[in-house]
Amino acid sequence: MPNKLNRRQFVAAGAAVGVFARGPQVITRGVKPVVVAAGNGNRSKNSAGLTCVAKAFKMITEGSDVLDACIAGVNIVELDPEDTSVGYGGLPNADGVVQLDASVMHGPRKSGGSVACLEGVRTPSLVAKKIMDETDHVLLVGKDAQRFARLMGFTIEDDLNTPKSRDLYLEWKRRTDPEHYLNPKDRAELGYHVALEMVAEGKIDPDHFHGTINCNAVNSKGEICGTTTTSGLAWKIPGRVGDSPILGAGLYVDGEVGAAGSTGRGEANLLTLASFQIVESMRQGMHPKDAGMAALRRIKSQTISKRLLNRRGEPNFNVNYYIVNVKGEYAGVTMYNSNGMSSFAVCNEKGPENVKLEALLNGSAND
Ligand code: GLY
Repeated sequence: MPNKLNRRQFVAAGAAVGVFARGPQVITRGVKPVVVAAGNGNRSKNSAGLTCVAKAFKMITEGSDVLDACIAGVNIVELDPEDTSVGYGGLPNADGVVQLDASVMHGPRKSGGSVACLEGVRTPSLVAKKIMDETDHVLLVGKDAQRFARLMGFTIEDDLNTPKSRDLYLEWKRRTDPEHYLNPKDRAELGYHVALEMVAEGKIDPDHFHGTINCNAVNSKGEICGTTTTSGLAWKIPGRVGDSPILGAGLYVDGEVGAAGSTGRGEANLLTLASFQIVESMRQGMHPKDAGMAALRRIKSQTISKRLLNRRGEPNFNVNYYIVNVKGEYAGVTMYNSNGMSSFAVCNEKGPENVKLEALLNGSAND
């Protein structure tokens, strides 16, 4: 599947649903609307041929609520069985169960919601939104989150694995063969090592190992919102919660300042609350790119555990941020862009495109 809709396809897709027939009608009142997302935000497509960022942009320029637009965008990725990092068909945990995390934040409403370890619902971002809208709480987890989702009318499925995610799980299981590793520490390390081996062999998309999608958008009125949704770390210990549903870690939005969200090693964000830090740096006047680089530098300096360092003594993992401020300035930054090919998704009045992520460090995480 091509990664990118070219301008002609984008306009054609819009025309097919009657929106871009007269060309994009973008009303700007000081702020140029823009949607930014992780790279998979310009890959999976809906039946109208729109990717996450294109769908969200179309909705915000037609006047939809910015958070509803971001969620409608990530729903395309959550429902795509080919994306093994998010929603339906996300890579399962170490017991073969798909457990999903998601969060949403609404800038103008100064509100948010999130869900963790949710099983059986393909679109956890919509459950997070329901928690924000229908309860006095921010975060629900596990079986009780599933019960809440059932109450809210979501369909609960027995198993969100697809043949693809199940095959990959069985391969991992076969290689790790836990019966032979009595020491749980060695077993966990072997499991992690084997998973990285499967990434190196091209069996798992590197972006899908800690895979996730984050999508943030600002409209012409400067209203800003975001969402992050994920199946989390592949083969994680059951019950592991990553950064995606933790406000301040995998997502943070301040309606007066901007939004930041992340993909990559969630534990690094949980230990630094990097998305919150990025928004606070923007509050002090930093450009989104500088704010993102500052967060990456902090993670680099906080990473001192030997098992997390490569031969150069730098982090042996990647982490990425997608950032937009209320002026419509944006950036996508990463710890490493080793092959120079890693990109993030952007959609503005020019249509959807893949933009290269700017890296803090040279080389690759595993050199
Ligand atoms: N960033 C996704 C995760 O670590 O769960």
